[in-house]
Amino acid sequence: MTLLAPTEVLETARLVLRRMDASDLDYFIAIHQDPDVARYISGKPRPPAETEKWFQDVQDSYAHASLGPLAVIRKSDGARVGRCGLSDAAIDRAAPPGGLQRAWLFRTHAPADAQIQSLPELGYTFGKAHWGQGYASEAARAVFGYAQAQREFAEIMSVIHPDNGGSLAVAAKFGVRYVGEVDVIGQPYKRFHWPLAALPKVP
Ligand SMILES: CC(C)(COP(=O)(O)OP(=O)(O)OC[C@H]1O[C@@H](n2cnc3c(N)ncnc32)[C@H](O)[C@@H]1OP(=O)(O)O)[C@@H](O)C(=O)NCCC(=O)NCCS
Repeated sequence: MTLLAPTEVLETARLVLRRMDASDLDYFIAIHQDPDVARYISGKPRPPAETEKWFQDVQDSYAHASLGPLAVIRKSDGARVGRCGLSDAAIDRAAPPGGLQRAWLFRTHAPADAQIQSLPELGYTFGKAHWGQGYASEAARAVFGYAQAQREFAEIMSVIHPDNGGSLAVAAKFGVRYVGEVDVIGQPYKRFHWPLAALPKVP
C-alpha cells in the first residue's frame, strides 16, 4: 500500500518501510534474478527488462490506486532487505467454466473482458541473504497493522504457491483463512484472507 498523508514510513523495531523510488530499481532487478527468490513469484528468474516493467507497474499503482509494495530498509545499516506491502490485485468474480478463478497482482493486468473484483494482496519478498531473520514476519505485521488501522479494506488476500513453505509459515502466524485455489501466472496458488473481520466495527 502506499502510505496516506501524513504517514511517510512504517517503522518496526528493525525495519523501515517506504515507497520505492528510482534508486531502488537495481536492488529489485538483482533479487528478482535470483532463481531461489523468483521460484514461487514468477516461476523463473526475471530478466532486468521484466523487473523494469514491474517497477513501472508499482509506480503506476502508487499513483492510481494508492496501493503497491513498499521497499523494506534495515535501520541498523540502511541496507535494502526486500519489499512488503499491499498490491493493487484483482480476482475473477467467478471461475470460468471448468477452470479456476484467476488472480492478477496488478489489477491493470486483467484482460479487458474479465469481470473482476479488486482485492488487495499482502505480499512479501526478501533478498536471500536476509531470509530466516524474521524480517518478512516483522514487515508483514507492520503492513497488516497499518491496513487494520486505516479500515479502508473489506478483505485482504495473499496468494501463495502451495510449495512455498516459508511464505505459508509467515502467513500462518497471522491466522489467515484458506479460501480456495486461484490461477496465478497459469498455476494454482492458494488464496488466503487476512482476519480483518475480527476488528471491531467503526461506529
Ligand atoms: C518467504 C519469505 C518472504 C520469508 O522471508 P523470511 O524473512 O525468511 O521470513 P521469516 O524469517 O519472517 O519467517 C519465515 C518462517 O518460515 C519458516 N520457514 C522457512 N522456510 C520454510 C519452509 N521451507 N517450510 C516451512 N517453514 C519454513 C521459518 O522457520 C520461519 O518461521 P519461524 O519464525 O516460526 O521460525 C522469503 O523466503 C522470500 O522472500 N522468498 C522468496 C520470495 C517469495 O516466495 N515470496 C512470497 C511470495 S507468496
